[in-house]
Order: sequence, then structure tokens, then C-alpha cells
Amino acid sequence: MELYIDTANLDEIKRASDMGVLDGVTTNPSLIAREGIDYAKRLEEICEVVNGPVSAEVIATEFDAMVKEGRERAKIASNIVVKLPTTADGIRACKTLSDEGTRCNMTLCFQAMQAWLAAKAGAFLISPFIGRLDDISTDGMDLIHQIRTIYDNYGFTTKLLAASIRHPKHMLDCALAGADVATVPLSVIDQLLKHPLTDIGLQKFLQDYSAAFGG
Ligand code: E4P
Repeated sequence: MELYIDTANLDEIKRASDMGVLDGVTTNPSLIAREGIDYAKRLEEICEVVNGPVSAEVIATEFDAMVKEGRERAKIASNIVVKLPTTADGIRACKTLSDEGTRCNMTLCFQAMQAWLAAKAGAFLISPFIGRLDDISTDGMDLIHQIRTIYDNYGFTTKLLAASIRHPKHMLDCALAGADVATVPLSVIDQLLKHPLTDIGLQKFLQDYSAAFGG
């Protein structure tokens, strides 16, 4: 499973990138708003740090404007993936941009047949939102399993990108379900490495070593 970071914060992206295990970045309008910076400028900065796919969401919601904005975003760097909402206009824009060779990430996917249409439109990535489904008492992981099955049944090559991940258990379940990519905030990446027995064990190793050899 590939690991993307879900943020528009450059320091967080650099920290994750320095770990050497980062495969890409996803951003969205809310994350950019939190940074209070021009979207295109921040995307340029991110693409200087990360070589893997960097998702850049369009603000437009109507087909012509989405395609125009998507083409502009795609010019920023060769690793930009245009992120589009999974609406009727978004699917149409995905088909147009994908046919031109621009990779697209279909976002805000909450039911499996949206993912099926996205794959038919040539999407590079589909982003089902697990956490937001859990928030409304619907098991978000069911959606991951359904999309995996549909994509495997028909040999779709669209990558299943699990999004809206809130904790390590989501990550584990996604890996077991065969998600291709998980996009997570830095706080969750940090949590993945936390186990009390790791800390206790390390402390004991160092104490034993120091008791035997000093220092
Ligand atoms: C993914 O592309 C989205 O930016 C993100 O995962 C949304 O997560 P949230 O539901 O925690 O805002």
C-alpha cells in the first residue's frame, strides 16, 4: 500500500518526506484555506519536495470551468494529479482530462457505483472517504471492500486511494482490504510508530547496555 500525506502544510510534507517512505500528497480547498496561501504557489512548492503524485483540487464545479482549471493545474508540474469531485460534471471532466493524458483523482466518493463510473471515465485515483462515513454511523470500510471487489471483478486499473483516514486501525483495515494507497494526516503517520512496548523495550535495552559497559 502506498502512503500519501493529506495536507497542504509544507513543513509536515517535508517531515514525512524525510522519513523516506512518502509516495505522494493530497490537498483539498479546506487544507489550502487553513494555510492561507495561494493554491498554485503552494502546489509548486510541494512539487519541489515530492516527486510522486500531488493531487490538486479544482474549485470550479461546472464542466467547462473544471476542465480549464484542471489544465492550468496540470501545467504546474508533471506530477500534478487533477482532483475533481465525483459529480456528473466531475466525471465528464475526468474523461476529457484523462483522454488528454492528465491524471485525475476523483474525490468525495461515498458509494461504490461512483467509483465504478470514475474508473470507466479513466480516473487514475478514486478517493472514498472512510472517516466521514463513520461520522454518520455508516461503516466506511464497507465501501473500501466494495470498490476493491468491483475493480478486481472488471480489471479496472484506477487506484483505490483510501481517504478521510482518522487512526491507525483505519490504515490496518485498508491494508488488509487491499487499498492501493492510503492518504493520512501527519498525526496518523506519527501514531503508526507508537507502541508502549517499543518505548519500554528501547529504554530497557539502553539501560542494560549502559549498566554493562557504562556511558
Ligand atoms: C482526501 O483527499 C481528503 O483531502 C481527505 O482525506 C479528507 O479527510 P477529512 O474527512 O478528515 O477532512
